[in-house]
Order: sequence, then C-alpha cells, then structure tokens
Amino acid sequence: MSAITNITSTAQVSIEKRVAELISQMGLDEKIGQMSQLQGGGNSIPHDLAESLRASRVGSILNEVNVDIINEMQRICVEESRLGIPLLIGRDVIHGFKTIFPIPLGQAASWDPDIIEAGARVSANEAASAGVNWTFAPMIDITRDPRWGRIAESLGEDPYLCGVLGTAMVKGFQSNDLSKPGSIAACAKHFAGYGAAEGGRDYNTANIPENEMRNVHLRPFKRVAEAGVASFMSAFCDLNGVPATGNTWLMDDLLRKEWGYQGMVVSDWESIVEMSVHGFTHDDEEAAYEAVMAGIDMEMASSSYHDHLEDLVAQDKVSIEQIDTMVARVLKLKFELGLFEKPYTDPDEHVALLDKSALKAAKQAAVMSCVLLKNERHVLPLSHADLGSVAVIGPLADDGYEQLGTWVFDGEAQHSVTCKQAIEEMIGRTVDINYVKALDTTRSHNDDGFEEAVAAANKSDAVIVVVGEESFMSGEAHSRADIDLPGHQAELIKAVASAGKPVVVVIMAGRPLTIGNILDHADAVLYAWHPGTMGGPAIADLLFGIESPSGKLPVTFPKMVGQVPIFYSHKNTGRPATDHTCFNMEEVEPRASQTSLGMTSFHLDAGYKPLFPFGFGLTYGDIKYVKITTSHRSISLGETMDIAADVVNTGSRAAEEIVQLYVRDLVGNVTRPVKELRGFKRVSLKPGERKRISFSLHTDELAFYNRKMEHVTEPGRFHVWIGGSSDAELWADFEIHS
Ligand code: BGC
Repeated sequence: MSAITNITSTAQVSIEKRVAELISQMGLDEKIGQMSQLQGGGNSIPHDLAESLRASRVGSILNEVNVDIINEMQRICVEESRLGIPLLIGRDVIHGFKTIFPIPLGQAASWDPDIIEAGARVSANEAASAGVNWTFAPMIDITRDPRWGRIAESLGEDPYLCGVLGTAMVKGFQSNDLSKPGSIAACAKHFAGYGAAEGGRDYNTANIPENEMRNVHLRPFKRVAEAGVASFMSAFCDLNGVPATGNTWLMDDLLRKEWGYQGMVVSDWESIVEMSVHGFTHDDEEAAYEAVMAGIDMEMASSSYHDHLEDLVAQDKVSIEQIDTMVARVLKLKFELGLFEKPYTDPDEHVALLDKSALKAAKQAAVMSCVLLKNERHVLPLSHADLGSVAVIGPLADDGYEQLGTWVFDGEAQHSVTCKQAIEEMIGRTVDINYVKALDTTRSHNDDGFEEAVAAANKSDAVIVVVGEESFMSGEAHSRADIDLPGHQAELIKAVASAGKPVVVVIMAGRPLTIGNILDHADAVLYAWHPGTMGGPAIADLLFGIESPSGKLPVTFPKMVGQVPIFYSHKNTGRPATDHTCFNMEEVEPRASQTSLGMTSFHLDAGYKPLFPFGFGLTYGDIKYVKITTSHRSISLGETMDIAADVVNTGSRAAEEIVQLYVRDLVGNVTRPVKELRGFKRVSLKPGERKRISFSLHTDELAFYNRKMEHVTEPGRFHVWIGGSSDAELWADFEIHS
C-alpha cells in the first residue's frame, strides 16, 4: 500500500520479523515505554529523564533539537538500556526548520506540488541534521473558517487541493525511503474534523455528519494514507460527541479496519488526558483506556499510559495483544527509519543549514505563494527605470520576525530578508527609497507616524505599503473574531493614498483578511501571507517584474466575517441566490414586504458572493478562456474523457496561469456541491500566446459517498468548467451512463 515509502516486501517482511522478535523479549513496562512520548528541550538531560531512557520508559522525545543532546539520548537508549531501542525525535517542522518557507496556507496558494515537495525536502534535511527524525506535518484539516488561527497551518478549504498538496509534502519529508539520510517521517494531522471548530475558536467542538466527514474532511487523509504517510495524529476536538482521541469509529473502524492504515498514530499534546476535561472520561485511567481502545499508539506529553496501562492490563481491561499491536507500529517506524542501524546524527553529513540552495527554494516558494488580487491599470510591475524614488511604508516592511509567521520554533529573524532590505538591494543604487514604519505594530492605533508617511508618499513616484498581521495573530489558539486589518493600518493606507501616487499594498497575514475597506485606496494588492525567510526578495522580484505572480487563493476571502463559513464548494439549496434575486439592504424601500426580497439564500448586507473566490489570482498577463470541448458527449462508468479549453494571454507580459477544472454532478443520491475542483495545471503563456489545455477525467474521480456511505459514481448529467478560479464561467456538459 505504500506508494511513497518504497520498502520492498522482503524488507517489510524482515522488519515485521525483527519487530516480532523484539516484542517477544520486551516486558510490559518496556512496551508501555515505547508508547510514551516525553518533552525534551533543555541544555542538558535531566537526571530523571536519563534514568527513564535507561529503563526503556520512553519511546520518543519531542521538542529537542540540540544534536549533541539528541545523540546522547540515543546513546543512553542504544547502549545503556536493556534492549537498545532508539528514540523517535519529533518536532513541529511545519514550514521549515532554519530556512523558513511561506506558511502552509501560502504554500498552498502556489498550487504547485513540486515546490511544496521541494520545500519539505529542504526542511527534512535541515531538521534531520539536528537529529530530528519525525515531523508533525502536514496539517491537512479542511479549513473553511478564517477566524480559526490554524488556517495558517493548513492547505486551505478544498479536499482535492489539500490532498494533492499534502501528498507532495509527505513525499518531500519522507522521500521514497525513510531510511535515507535527510528523510524524516511525516504525520497527517489532525485526525479529524479539527478544522470545523465551532465559531473558529481553537480546540472547539466539531459536529460533522458522516456524509460530510467522508466527502470533505476525510478525503485528504485517505489520500495521504494511501500514499504512505508514516503516522497520523489525533485531533483535540470533540467530534460528534466523542473526542477524536477516543473515537473508536474514527480511529479503529475507519482508519484501521476500513482504510487498512498500518502506520503509527500519536495523540495530540495531552489530548488523552484532556478527554476528562471534555467530560468524556472520569479520570486519566479511563482516558488511557479509551485511547487504547481507539488505537492511539503513542501518548504525547502526558503520562496516562505510563501511569495506568499496567493496571489496565492487570484488570484485563486491556489485553497484551492490544499493547503488542500498538508497540509493533511504533517499532516498525523505527526500523523503517533505519534507526537501529544508524541512531546517531552527524550534522556534517547533511547539507548545511540555510544553504544557498535552501534559500533559493524558499524564495521560489514565496514567489509562487503570492497572490495578486488587484492590479488597476497594470500599475504592477513597477519599472525602476521610470522611478526616481519610491516610498516603502508600513509596520511589516522591515520586520524580519513577523514575516516568518506562526509555528516557527527554529527559524530566526536575523536570517530573514525584509521587503525594505530587498528593495534597497535591488534598486537602492539608482532610486531613492523613502522608508517610514508609520505604525509601531500592526495593532497600533497611534497615528503619530502618519504625517511622515504621507510626506514620504508625496516625495515619491510610487508607494509600497506593507501591512498585515503579526505572526502571533494566527496559529494554534490564536483565533480572531474580527478579521479586518488590525490597528490603524487601513487608515494608514487611506492616508498615504491621499498623496495621489500609485499605491501598492502588500499584505502579510496568516489568514484571509476582510480587506474590502482598503481596495479602493490601493491600485494594486499583493497577498503575500507570511512569506518566510526570503519573503523580501520574493516580493521585490514580483513588484519589479523580475518574477510574475502566479498564486491562486486556496481559500475563499469573505467580504465580511459574518459571511463565514463561505466556501466555493457549497450545496445549492432550494433557493440559490442570483444577481437578480439578491438585494442590498441599503437599496430596499421602507416597509418593503418580506416576499419582495428575492426569497433566496444571501445576506442583506453582504450579498451572496465573497470578496475573492477560491482559485482567484491575477497575473501580469491578461488571461482569457475560450472554446471548451469534451471528447465525448457521453461515457460509460469506468471510462475516461478529455475536457479541453484554449487559454489565451491577450496581455503584453508573459504569465504563468493555473488552469483549473471544476465539475458538478447535477443530481445525486445525496446533494452534490455546486462545483468541485478535479484538476489543475500550471501553464506559461507569452504575450499573445494561446494554448489548448486538456484534462482527462475518469469516472472514478466523480465518486462520492452516498446515503449508504458507499463510494460510487452515479450515472447522470455533469457540468464541467475550465477557468482561472472557482468563478469560472466557461462550461460544457456530459453524461455518464451505466
Ligand atoms: C498541536 C500539534 C503539535 C503538537 C506538538 C499541539 O499543541 O496541536 O499540531 O504537533 O502540539 O507540538
């Protein structure tokens, strides 16, 4: 079943044999040790921890990245413990280790599996050089709520995109052989439903009907499981009344029995003992019992397995066979990683941290992550030959720390190159750069710096304003109820726009922000997410036309937070809104009757459309789609058809466009979304160039879970679109018959 991890079946058999042999020699306490992960991270190994390692009471350490300490821990385990079992060393290498790539949501905006794989490869190499052999990534929770801070860590709202990109990330971390130097085990998290946290508040309840669970939230997980991801992590949330960590339907019936997943499952941080806080178990002992019943092989951070499993076995509540099955999964991963052969790390065997090639990959990823949302009168790219001076303004224009984003444990601001630095480096010799920070932080309400900012704008030929959210404003437990630009940043943009110079706004953020209030004051808007170490040079190259933007939104941007959840792949309802049936309440006559207002599904104050749809992103070209055709009007189940369209660049600049294929199943045994992404391709187009882009679609790719939870493609009529966003209008139809 393992597509990425290329272990031959003989190797697998021999691993199974070695695992079985080892287990046959282990005492119960040693087995429980393998199921326990403890926190590391100090300048030395505390005496108690060293004793636990020596006594085989620990299977894994997380958050230790000092290679000497890690090697010493491995030495204690390998040379001083009875059976010499090495450690899994886990770390959240989420979007880089030392070289920080754009946040995952930004990387997803590249829609580019290759760049994501390359980024994970660099990160794996760097982490491995410190002795880390396991990362807790990718996070493939489907995220449809920009209030939720962890949207930053996700690959967006769409199950298909998330599945394709998540698989690429796994491949980058693991390569095709976990035992190769520089490969580390990946972890698909958080299983499952965590992205649907009520109100976007972290850790919150997720109530998701099974049908939606299977058709939406579980899809990317199934894909990475089939591709051979080495481990899964259980989610913190209560899923339909049962915390995911103790959810036997999810963890056992589905993951193990239905999907046949053989890899290891780790809990989230203390999520086993938190089941009692949820009110699902009485105490740690019961929590440990429920977690074992669900099949959580390893406990992260807390110690309920260590404290209670022996008793649970003594009481015959948990069998030795259950324990052996779980320990076997942990040991199997250790063998696959080659840790028994090579437990120690020699940093000199790895490419150096922050190597040129790593920085180049990070810059390329940042270039491809930026999404051009507006470009009035082609104000971008700026031509520095035509500029005598440029103003660079804003709290994030020169802040190496904040551009890194959330989940940066090992990256350091001192290695970042900021926008200001990069622009100075690029054009500073010939163009005057007038830099003003204007606001101390993104949250500042103090306008004292505005005068200087406006003066800088007045004396410049163009204005670049770099605003957004600080790193801490997204990520775990960092949700927001108001997703406008914080502080007085919108006021700052308005103030500098009053100078009448071309205004380019660059936004660095961990989520979609509601930026409708600044669009009229900006000639161009480039959404850069948190772009990482090389954010500055990437943005400078885009602004000055050395590179061309090609990113597309991996998530819908709402006009107002009250529209949330709003995503492209929604159901139709019995009364879908249209432009003709949607009213703005400002225009409604006094005492209008209830039935005069269209009686469709929309908000009186926001309409039914988002600010920017999923898949949207401009290029420096002018892209048109024409002439869609299908190779067949009708095909049988089991057949493939081709769908093609011409993509034309009518502009005067070269462009890279991400061409997207959407489908709609018009009638289903359960209602089907109005559009679903089923393919995408990156295409380069010179000015005036036209290319015919074709997708092939097998009827299996149209399968969904029906009312009986069978995964089937139903015969019937389908619509298909090819275009540059989920708003694509160019469509055709076809039929599938049985
Ligand atoms: C997060 C996980 C993370 C773990 C270890 C938890 O709080 O939810 O995603 O991998 O901590 O740091």
